[in-house]
Amino acid sequence: MPTTFALVARQDEIDASALLVGRMSGDEAEILTLCVAPVARRSGVARGMLDAFFRHVGTQTRIVLEVAVDNAAAIALYESVGFLPAGLRPDYYTGQGRKVDALVYARRGHLIT
Ligand SMILES: CC(C)(COP(=O)(O)OP(=O)(O)OC[C@H]1O[C@@H](n2cnc3c(N)ncnc32)[C@H](O)[C@@H]1OP(=O)(O)O)[C@@H](O)C(=O)NCCC(=O)NCCS
Repeated sequence: MPTTFALVARQDEIDASALLVGRMSGDEAEILTLCVAPVARRSGVARGMLDAFFRHVGTQTRIVLEVAVDNAAAIALYESVGFLPAGLRPDYYTGQGRKVDALVYARRGHLIT
């Protein structure tokens, strides 16, 4: 899709340590996926990816994302960079015989301070 793009953080010449997939739609951007390799976690990689994403989409853009209500690490990450709760999507994630609600978070695209 032409509106979809990815940011990759490189571990070295071969391996990536993190991936962020986003989508632009008018004056709104959505974070579709953010994942950091387990060995690279808790060293600021995700925060750095989000900072790069915010710079990429610009200050006038509203950014939204969904996160599972039981994903404490991701919720702590998003709240630490200024995302605020904006809604709830019941049974948004399904699989392995269970359904999990998603929290919707939103934020303006200004930089992390
Ligand atoms: C969530 C995830 C992206 C965080 O990546 P990360 O590179 O480890 O995050 P950072 O090191 O940049 O952490 C930034 C802040 O997020 C919060 N945070 C990150 N991981 C956390 C954890 N396990 N527990 C609590 N807070 C956490 C903290 O506030 C942290 O700041 P601090 O280290 O100064 O306390 C990573 O754990 C991951 O890839 N998880 C699996 C995929 C996933 O759930 N993606 C999100 C889908 S919506």
